[in-house]
Amino acid sequence: MAREPQAVTATQLDDAIAVRPGGTLHGRIRIPGDKSVSHRAVMLGAIARGTTRVSNFLPGEDCLGTIRAMQALGVPIEGEGTDWVVTGQGLGGLVDPSDVLDVGNSGTTIRLLLGLLAGSRVFATLTGDASIRRRPMGRVVAPLREMGATILGRQGGTLAPLAVQGTPLTGIRYASPVASAQIKSAVLFAGLYAAGETSVTEPALSRDHSERMLGAMGARIRREGLTVTVEGGYELTAVDVAVPGDISSAAFWLVAAAITPGSELLLENVGVNPTRTGILDVLTAMGADVVRLDERTVAGEVVADLRVRGAALTGADIGGDLIPRLIDEIPILALAAACAEGETVIRDAAELRVKESDRLSAIARELGNLGARVVERPDGLVISGPTRWRGGPVESRGDHRMAMTLALSALVGPEPVVVHGISCVATSYPSFWSTLEAARA
Ligand code: S3P
Repeated sequence: MAREPQAVTATQLDDAIAVRPGGTLHGRIRIPGDKSVSHRAVMLGAIARGTTRVSNFLPGEDCLGTIRAMQALGVPIEGEGTDWVVTGQGLGGLVDPSDVLDVGNSGTTIRLLLGLLAGSRVFATLTGDASIRRRPMGRVVAPLREMGATILGRQGGTLAPLAVQGTPLTGIRYASPVASAQIKSAVLFAGLYAAGETSVTEPALSRDHSERMLGAMGARIRREGLTVTVEGGYELTAVDVAVPGDISSAAFWLVAAAITPGSELLLENVGVNPTRTGILDVLTAMGADVVRLDERTVAGEVVADLRVRGAALTGADIGGDLIPRLIDEIPILALAAACAEGETVIRDAAELRVKESDRLSAIARELGNLGARVVERPDGLVISGPTRWRGGPVESRGDHRMAMTLALSALVGPEPVVVHGISCVATSYPSFWSTLEAARA
C-alpha cells in the first residue's frame, strides 16, 4: 500500500523535528544494548587479563566515547557498531593518554573512569560537554581522595575538567549519601587497585551491573544487604559479554504503547535486572497491560520480551527505594502520568536535578507547555491527569531522554509537537527516530 503523506511521522528540521499528532504503534522492536552494561564491558574488559568479546554493544555517542577513552589509555579495542573485541591489559596495563579525554555528555564515563584511574599509574585529564562540566563530581572525588587518590579540578575538584594522577590506594568503608551506581562503581573500581577491602553501603539499592560483571570476571566481591565489598590486588579474567537490551530505551515504547489505546508492541531482548525494573512495577500499578515473555538469563543478566498494549491508566505514587530502580525513566513516566486519570506524585527524586538537564524543571516546563498540569517540588513533581494536550515548540535542553519524551507526547495530542535540540538523542538511542517511524507506519 502506498504511504499517505500524512503517515510520515516527523519532518526533520535543523536540529529539530516536527512530530505529527495521533496514531498507534504496532510491531516488534529489537531494543538496543544497555548503556550501563556497554560502558562496563569495555572498561572492565580493558583492565582484565584476556580478550573480552562484546556483542549487542550500544553504538550511541556515550558508549563510543568510552571506547575512545580506553583506546587513548592504550587498550586495543577493535570492531564496529554492536560488536567489539577488547584486548585486556591487566590492572597495571593502562598508559598515559597523549591528550585530554573528552567524555562528551557521558556522566557514567567520567565518573567510572575516575575510579578506574585513581589507583593506576596513569596521569589523565578528563572533561566533557557543557552539561558534564556543570554536573557534580565531588560525589566521586571525595571517597576516592579518602582512599588516597590524587585528583585536581575546578572548584576544589568538584567540577570537570579533572586531572587524576594514579597513586597507590587504601581500601575504605564508604557510606554513600546517595543511591548512585556511578558513585558505587567508581569506588569499587578503585577498590580493585587498593590495599585491603573496599566497601560501599548505599541508602537504597542502585543498579548492580558492576557487581555482576566483576563477579563474572573473578573479582573477590560479595554483597551483604546494601553493602558490597571488593578485595583489592586481584586481577580480573576476561569474559565475553552479550549486552541485554536497555530497559531505559524500552521504557519509551512501553509508555508510548500504554498511552495509545489500540497499540500493541513486542519489545525484544529487554534486560529485566530487578535493580532496573521499577518502570514495570509502576506501569503495572497504573493499569498498563505489560506482560513478560520468555524470561532467560544471558551472561549473568536476566532478559525477557515485553508485550505491551494500550490501556486506561490511573495515577501512581512513586518514591522511596523505587526511585533508583527507575531513575532514568522519570521523564517518560511523567508523560504516562499526564495521560493517566488522577494525580501522580513523584518524591525523593532530587537527583533528577543533576542529570543531563535539571529534569524536574524540564519536565514541568516543557510538558507544561504542551498542556500538562505539572507542579514542581524540590524533590519531585505532582502531575494531574488526564491532559488536554496541545502542540507547539518544546526544547530538549540537550537532554536525550527529554527529547524522546517530548517527541512521543505528540502521539496523544491534536497538533504537531516540534522538538528542538534532538541531536542529543544519539547519545543513547541513535535508531530512535527510525524505530518510531517503523512502528507508526
Ligand atoms: C548509571 C547510573 C545512574 C543513571 C545513569 C547511568 C550507570 O546515574 O542515571 O544514566 O551506568 O551507572 P547515578 O549513579 O548518578 O544515579
